[in-house]
Amino acid sequence: MNILVVGTGAREHAICNSVKNAELYSIMSNNNPGIARLSKFQISSEKDLNGVKKFALDNKIDMAIIGPEAPLEMGIVDELQKVGIGCVGPTKAAARIETDKAFMRDLFDKHNIDGSIVYKVFDNLEDTEEFIDNFDQDIVIKPIGLTGGKGVKIVGEHLEDGQAAKNYVKEIIENKISGHAQVVIEERLLGEEFTVQAFVDGNKVVPMPAAQDHPHAYEGDQGPITGGMGSYSDNNGLLPFLDKKNYDKSVKIMQDTVNAVKNEVGPYKGILYGQFMLCKDGPKLVEYNARFGDPEAMNVLPLLKTDFVGICESIIDGNIKKAEFEKKATVCKYIVPKGYPESGKAGQVIDVNESKIYQNSALVYYAAVNQIDNKIYTSASRALGIVGIGDSISEAEKICENATKYVQGDIYHRKDIGTNDLIQKRVEHMKSIRKSQ
Ligand code: GLY
Repeated sequence: MNILVVGTGAREHAICNSVKNAELYSIMSNNNPGIARLSKFQISSEKDLNGVKKFALDNKIDMAIIGPEAPLEMGIVDELQKVGIGCVGPTKAAARIETDKAFMRDLFDKHNIDGSIVYKVFDNLEDTEEFIDNFDQDIVIKPIGLTGGKGVKIVGEHLEDGQAAKNYVKEIIENKISGHAQVVIEERLLGEEFTVQAFVDGNKVVPMPAAQDHPHAYEGDQGPITGGMGSYSDNNGLLPFLDKKNYDKSVKIMQDTVNAVKNEVGPYKGILYGQFMLCKDGPKLVEYNARFGDPEAMNVLPLLKTDFVGICESIIDGNIKKAEFEKKATVCKYIVPKGYPESGKAGQVIDVNESKIYQNSALVYYAAVNQIDNKIYTSASRALGIVGIGDSISEAEKICENATKYVQGDIYHRKDIGTNDLIQKRVEHMKSIRKSQ
């Protein structure tokens, strides 16, 4: 079987690593050394749909797995399906669960899906200003389309006050940030965020272990929001602050969403990523992604015991049964160039001692780096993910942290991800949320 993976980052490196007993092809926008060694590749834009289609046809691709959201938004799945190529990824219409936040919130309301929150969609400044002046809770402002994770702003955290909120709305509407002159304003949720990813075959949702990402750049959850500095998962598929009851509730929300999407725009096939906030009264949906998470793909895929290619086939055929995972904990830490996310130093050589990393039982997944003549160069974005796997989060963290010393260059990472201190802080925070009025 010929399988095409579309995408360039550590998420796609983890996907490629999971493909066994198949001829692997890839389209990536720069020379990711991890993907390059596993596949026959073409370096070109993932958003050039005609280019992807031609490469797929030329190489007699049987199945395509789409990593990032941008080509999904453009309809890559619709295009490949037209020429008979099955895809792990939703159609353009079904991907609106990620690419159109107004569609997603309206779906929850229309289908009475649990985990909904107070929200309103606006396309003009006057109505928004009135809402901001009269709403008596903290709010979050989101452009309705894709912003690479950088468009969401919380009043009281990223925006000082109501006036700053109005200025940001003006900027979104006037400049069509995310491609639309629309914003969603939502109530601010208090609690602990977590991720549940699932394989979806159009009807059935088969969930993966929960994980928790760390969006802030610096230790102690300080600094600017990034694409995610690292993540962890626990040996029981839950998290130290997330019990089975609330995990199951989250999966039920995802199943109800998949049923509703089918009803509205047709079946959802691919990976569904639910980002939830565990609040005092249970999980609420923060947002969906129509793909694996990055870094969270690196927590779940190395633990997958069921054949990944078999799962992908059953997603396309609509008959997925199960996905089994090793009962291990994982910790992933992203190594990023100094200055990331605002002004990451691009074009710097980094030295990655892979054999030492593997000898120390850790894994390495390359992200936004470019290999030229056996040297690895940074871009302005995340460089590579190191993953430790162990019987406990603490053991996985030690394996991961120890391996980070085998990457040298003008780089940094968050040492605190997965440490007992930070995990305990999360648990205590959740306790205080439960006790709050
Ligand atoms: N972990 C954030 C994302 O995948 O978008």
